[in-house]
Amino acid sequence: MANTVIIGAQWGDEGKGKIVDMLSAQSQVVVRFQGGNNAGHTIKVNGKETILHLIPSGILHEGKRCLIGNGVVLDPDVFLEEVDALAAQGVDVSPERLGISPKTHLILPYHKTLDKAREAKRAGKKIGTTGRGIGPCYEDKAARVGLRAGDLLQPDLVRAKVRHALQEKNVLLRELYKYDPVDEQEVCDHLLSIAPRITPYLTDVSAAVQEADDKGQNVLFEGAQGIHLDIDHGTYPFVTSSNTVAGNAAAGAGVGPRTLNSIVGIVKAYTTRVGSGPFPSELEDDTGRYLRTNGHEFGATTGRPRRCGWLDVVILRETVRLCSLTDIALTKLDVLQNLPELNICVAYELDGKRLDYPPQGEGDLARVTPVYETLPGFVEDISGCRSMEELPENVRAYVRRIEELVGVRVSIVSVGADREQTIVRQA
Ligand code: IMP
Repeated sequence: MANTVIIGAQWGDEGKGKIVDMLSAQSQVVVRFQGGNNAGHTIKVNGKETILHLIPSGILHEGKRCLIGNGVVLDPDVFLEEVDALAAQGVDVSPERLGISPKTHLILPYHKTLDKAREAKRAGKKIGTTGRGIGPCYEDKAARVGLRAGDLLQPDLVRAKVRHALQEKNVLLRELYKYDPVDEQEVCDHLLSIAPRITPYLTDVSAAVQEADDKGQNVLFEGAQGIHLDIDHGTYPFVTSSNTVAGNAAAGAGVGPRTLNSIVGIVKAYTTRVGSGPFPSELEDDTGRYLRTNGHEFGATTGRPRRCGWLDVVILRETVRLCSLTDIALTKLDVLQNLPELNICVAYELDGKRLDYPPQGEGDLARVTPVYETLPGFVEDISGCRSMEELPENVRAYVRRIEELVGVRVSIVSVGADREQTIVRQA
């Protein structure tokens, strides 16, 4: 295994945590390169479930170096909560194992307040954000007024940046959103009080990844959210605020694009979406409810019920184009058990035309009609299968058809939440 990027090929929640955890076994370094604690990666080992929002999922493997790259936005309180929770489970979370880039932007209390205030004001047009302050933090980064993890070494700089930020944000909060202003002193005092626990983790992530690569070690780049939530290429404006595409693994970790060797797209065997935005193959019927219940489709971060629908290969073709996928890891195949028929959305129709790729105009995706191909379902319990040969023929036919339609090999198949419930196909 060379350096591998893992991305969610749909709208997030594809089961990346499990695959990252699995591939971590063959890597020495795991890096997160975008997003923040809007993500929620659920990992189940020997029946025990751990949900991580910020710290790379590789942390559950002893001895792996886990890094948070410059492209991430980091809530320092959430980081410390995760560190404490993992330490309580006996996981080594010392700075020798865990690092944060000094260039990583920090999510501060006013980002969270603004996130919630904006959503509340968007009545009827909500994005359905996770409310974790992700968008406002990336806004400050782009506006060049953000606070970065490395700033915690300079208390005067922290105070000056927070003061500058609040001069503007408190006007917005008070006048436009009718919220209480945020207290500058309180923000600074709290941040500086926890700074001594964060600064030991500061690491030149770019150099650490390069060193590992030079030594011939395998680096795993752990994506969050999904390709169709990408700020540029997703279903704008119903997207997150970072680039989720594989190429951003390089920019968000501080390495050149040639460092990225294989790109694994995690594809759930059906489609889900949390929050607002178009979803052509959505099922608002008994089948959709069956998928939600059987697949436990409730957000790992917010607990919100996920919208569920048939597998959509039109969006997957675009994922392949945007990310140069080399492999697919197909997850939650077991959830489809007992459905009499399996539909795959193979194309869209829009204004009398058939489309193999999503239309690009804002709002167009909400107007398409899905074109389905129907395959027979299966009734067998496949959660105990450990090879393709053990899978019933209808399941194998479903996997084969996905490979044909998307044009990428399915090299991993997941048939249950546990680490062991996985089929790895040899090349
Ligand atoms: P934000 O990232 O909190 O700003 O939310 C923007 C959109 O991305 C909303 O529709 C969220 O539901 C969605 N989103 C953010 N993070 C995740 C994730 O990890 N999984 C699935 N959806 C997500």
